[in-house]
Amino acid sequence: MYMKILGIESSCDETAAALLEVISPKRKLHAKNCKVLAGESVNFKIPSIKVLINVVLSQTEIHKKYGGVVPEAAARAHLENINLVIEKAIGSNFKPDLIAVTKGPGLITALQVGVQAAKTLSYVWRVPLIGVNHLEGHLWSFLLNKESGFKNIKYLPAVALIVSGGHTELILVNGIGKYKLIGRTLDDAAGEVFDKVAKMLGLGYPGGHVIAMRAEKGNSAKINFPRPMINSSDFNFSFSGLKTSVKYYLMDTKPAGKLGKLFINDVSASFQQSVVDVLVGKTIKAAEKYKVGSIILGGGVSANEKLIQSLTIKAQNSGINCLAPEKWLAGDNASMIALAGYFNKQKSSRIVYRKLVADANLILTKN
Ligand code: KG4
Ligand code: ZN
Repeated sequence: MYMKILGIESSCDETAAALLEVISPKRKLHAKNCKVLAGESVNFKIPSIKVLINVVLSQTEIHKKYGGVVPEAAARAHLENINLVIEKAIGSNFKPDLIAVTKGPGLITALQVGVQAAKTLSYVWRVPLIGVNHLEGHLWSFLLNKESGFKNIKYLPAVALIVSGGHTELILVNGIGKYKLIGRTLDDAAGEVFDKVAKMLGLGYPGGHVIAMRAEKGNSAKINFPRPMINSSDFNFSFSGLKTSVKYYLMDTKPAGKLGKLFINDVSASFQQSVVDVLVGKTIKAAEKYKVGSIILGGGVSANEKLIQSLTIKAQNSGINCLAPEKWLAGDNASMIALAGYFNKQKSSRIVYRKLVADANLILTKN
């Protein structure tokens, strides 16, 4: 079966739309390009997936002067841009076969913009519509590949580490829709703490990628920041104490005047090392406990090269495969929403646009 799916994403500060092409294999005509996701019914195969167009309009310029996302400003910018990104994604294609939109979690007024646009299009075009959990989009984003459209899938079950500006969660994945929460942050999310430390260092907002760049030139062993909860018996995280440690370190040792380049590089590298050690340590421990074959990475922080490298090396030592999205699909985008929409469509028979409501606190996993 051949489908074009329009994805729409507006949960935070990126207005995004994408067109995804999915060719799913017929049961008997099994395509050589498709791999079975073990743990799923044998008939569920990973289709050929191609990102035709991925449009992301970032609101960074609007929010950076406030040092964080201002919900009201975000919603207004989404309203101004939503039609534009959809128009660009659709291009000369007449209409898609399915519309998938982020239903939650996120900022409620921001989510509502995408949801209302999707509902209107679904009504006018008479095209089925499905609401998607943003985190489920991040979870499967490693499957998207612009070049080949196909990936070799290692087997489920897997442990997924979703690390973004709003979430840090460890999830046991037994199949599509079969998710169990095994750990989460008790306070700040990993991306949030990257952003806050970047702000302390005067590196602007959002700061994750800037810290990562500075860290490349710094000495990660220079400052021994704490590794919060690294030895706790559960799989939860806590990053606010680390943030406070960086704050006190800066208060105690900050040179007079403007911060020097070397100083910033060393703080960035030492701080990043601390976050990476905790994330990698806990994820590997979870993967070993649940005896999974793969670790899945997703969310904006999964663009962090140090995190990918450390996790891949440690995972390989334990005989575990590490799957991460391509960098351009690690942050918020609508291709991942289209893909999660496709997967969910396989599971539900009726998709009625009237029933779709944005939910700021939408939950992906059972506890
Ligand atoms: O998934 P995402 O785009 O949006 C949310 O759903 O929150 O994640 C954004 C977060 C921001 O906190 C940003 O600083 C962080 O991802 N981030 C990074 C890197 N690139 C983006 N954090 C660490 N290293 C990076 N290279
Ligand atoms: Zn996200």
